[in-house]
Amino acid sequence: MLDLHDYVASIPNFPEEGVTFRDITPLLADGAAYAEATRQITEFAKERGVNVIVGPESRGFLVGAPVAHQMGIGLVPARKPGKLPREVISQSYKLEYGEATLELHKDAIKPGDKVLITDDLLATGGTIEATIKLVEALGGEVVGLAFLIELNALHGRDRLNGYELLALMNY
Ligand code: PRP
Ligand code: HPA
Repeated sequence: MLDLHDYVASIPNFPEEGVTFRDITPLLADGAAYAEATRQITEFAKERGVNVIVGPESRGFLVGAPVAHQMGIGLVPARKPGKLPREVISQSYKLEYGEATLELHKDAIKPGDKVLITDDLLATGGTIEATIKLVEALGGEVVGLAFLIELNALHGRDRLNGYELLALMNY
């Protein structure tokens, strides 16, 4: 059986000394591996009655878009500031160094929507926590969080108590 771990490249000391970067580009470049990851997340989404997917810029789009297509539902991009042209809500969050912000169009989520949030990787959980806040502020119900990779040592999961979480690989 196909093992998704075989399609993640581990790069020592990138982007800085002491960090091992998990690179998903080999997985994306392989049709069978990308399809298998999409299949597993689609199954998780179907079990939860998801009707819309939200992915944070930029790698969240790459995970969410094929699942949305497979399910015949929509994809909502949560974008970095200044990219969305209509009225937005914003949420700032802490990065390891400094701060970042994500935005959603105010009409992107309807009250009662059952939302799956997708991303390539869960590290500290700041990105996903901000995305959850945006969805919930618009009245959406976050029924699942799906990642290709969870970095266990960073304990992002601890910030996401109460949410159903799928990680296809753990490092
Ligand atoms: C990376 C990754 C996740 C996030 C994980 O995105 O794709 O979205 O960091 O980190 P966290 O759990 O500590 O928040 P990045 O901000 O580098 O943006 P990119 O996808 O545009 O490269
Ligand atoms: N790989 C990819 N993206 C990341 C990582 C990583 O190890 N850590 C934080 N963002």
